[in-house]
Amino acid sequence: MKILLNQSFKAVELGDINPNTTVLEWLRGNQFVGTKEGCASGDCGACTAVVGELSSINNKTEIQYKTINTCIALAYSLIGKHLITVEGLSEGNKLHPVQKAMVAENGSQCGFCTPGFVMSLFAMYHNEKTVNLPKINEALSGNLCRCTGYKPIISAAFIAFSEKKQESLDFYERNQAQLIESLTQLSGQKNISLNFKDGNKNILFDAPSDIATLSQVLSKNPTANIVAAGTDLNLEITQSMKEFSHIVSVNRVSELKQIDETDTEIKIGAAVSYEEAKSILVKYWPDLDSFLERFASLPIKNWATIGGNIANASPIGDMPPVLIALESKLNLRKGDSSRTIMLEDFFISYKETLLEPSEFIESILIPKPSNQDRLITHKISKRFEDDISAVCMAMNVKSKESIPHSVKIGFGGMSGIPQRAIELEKVFLNNWDKDALVSAAYEALDNEFTPFSDVRASSEYRLKVSAALVKKSSLMLKGIPVEDLAHYSELQSS
Ligand SMILES: Cc1cc2nc3c(=O)[nH]c(=O)nc-3n(C[C@H](O)[C@H](O)[C@H](O)COP(=O)(O)OP(=O)(O)OC[C@H]3O[C@@H](n4cnc5c(N)ncnc54)[C@H](O)[C@@H]3O)c2cc1C
Ligand code: FES
Ligand code: FES
Repeated sequence: MKILLNQSFKAVELGDINPNTTVLEWLRGNQFVGTKEGCASGDCGACTAVVGELSSINNKTEIQYKTINTCIALAYSLIGKHLITVEGLSEGNKLHPVQKAMVAENGSQCGFCTPGFVMSLFAMYHNEKTVNLPKINEALSGNLCRCTGYKPIISAAFIAFSEKKQESLDFYERNQAQLIESLTQLSGQKNISLNFKDGNKNILFDAPSDIATLSQVLSKNPTANIVAAGTDLNLEITQSMKEFSHIVSVNRVSELKQIDETDTEIKIGAAVSYEEAKSILVKYWPDLDSFLERFASLPIKNWATIGGNIANASPIGDMPPVLIALESKLNLRKGDSSRTIMLEDFFISYKETLLEPSEFIESILIPKPSNQDRLITHKISKRFEDDISAVCMAMNVKSKESIPHSVKIGFGGMSGIPQRAIELEKVFLNNWDKDALVSAAYEALDNEFTPFSDVRASSEYRLKVSAALVKKSSLMLKGIPVEDLAHYSELQSS
């Protein structure tokens, strides 16, 4: 089971490892100790590395490089991909431009976070032609530093780019053709099925490359754990010290990685990541641009899937309220049979869904909007980026001559499941332009939901902030400007 690693064109064998092994464990176990472990939960960025995958853009094969959190990605999820760590940046004694800029700007003190920052800067350097503050903030959204502070690191990003034209291309740009050839040879590794023996234990790993094989594997092994990116599931390995006895990875299944469009509908494969889905989502629902900015950090968005967010069934997952408001459906598959259900019916109770053993989410179907439709989204969390919602609200309003005649509202954080607010929808249509909206919305919410109190927010706060969000949405519909934290990074750069 091979990957490309750093500046070598020759594939490296991952070896006979426990399928529960993370990329970070594998790296450090193989003396690539530049990549650090801080939180082991995707939050601090000390473990950031870059992964390259072949992709075809305008019939031209390219390698797309993106940051990931190696602490919560499984080593076997990289089979056939290119892994670049901090050891792979300099050429001999010649530092990479982003490393040089970090040195020049004193971007490091204790140095623990530095490899992670350098890798985030490297990915941005590689992927972007120019930078500005919002782009830098997004690139660094998954990296925490406790001692240097962010100013010197942001300066380093600007300096590296200002010198980009003068610098010779970095190793990976100069050698793209040969790296594409090496990765193409590795792409021959199709359906993968492994059995790792650990004493008396057998730990199984399957990574099918097509949907028919995935269905067969799951039908034969209904208790196996499906993993997509693992940004939820793998926390059980790194935080709860759990070991899965059979892992079935869906992130190589070609049908689950597709995005298709008809005149009326968008179909997003369950294993499509946020960054992959972003352009089509934002094209039809521009409000999602600032909403997705609030979702996790860039390394998480690069890797995590929309199907995983739905199947995880967390009451505070961000996509379900949005997709419920958009009246989305799910295509579910079990063996040879498929069914299509409304997403709002998928969640039964806390962390429980309609999925049967061996059934999986194949795709998400979203009706296209008409030009009278408006999607408004709000996320309330303590931090701007890389934080989980206390409350998430999405409102999909259909209007005629600027008067709303239909509305669908989805909520996260207001009950044990992501849920549609049916009573509130009626109240909104009757009161959207009246002063009584906030009190009427509060009453409807109080009837319809019993929010929990936890570290993020009290039950009462959740009710009150939701009623305020309803009011804010009505002002937005009327075109009245409202202060919006979503434009925080634009404000910063102005
Ligand atoms: C640092 C950090 C920040 C985060 N921030 C946010 C945030 O802001 N908002 C938010 O909503 N979430 C957030 N998350 C949670 C997580 O990233 C998302 O829920 C993500 O979309 C999960 O996708 P995944 O591919 O990683 O799922 P996985 O972890 O691979 O799987 C999650 C669950 O879904 C099941 N599953 C996956 N795919 C399928 C399928 N096709 N069919 C059936 N079952 C399937 C798995 O068995 C598992 O039970 C964050 C996580 C981290 C670590
Ligand atoms: S170790 Fe903190 S994000 Fe991976
Ligand atoms: S330099 Fe010490 S944590 Fe960043």
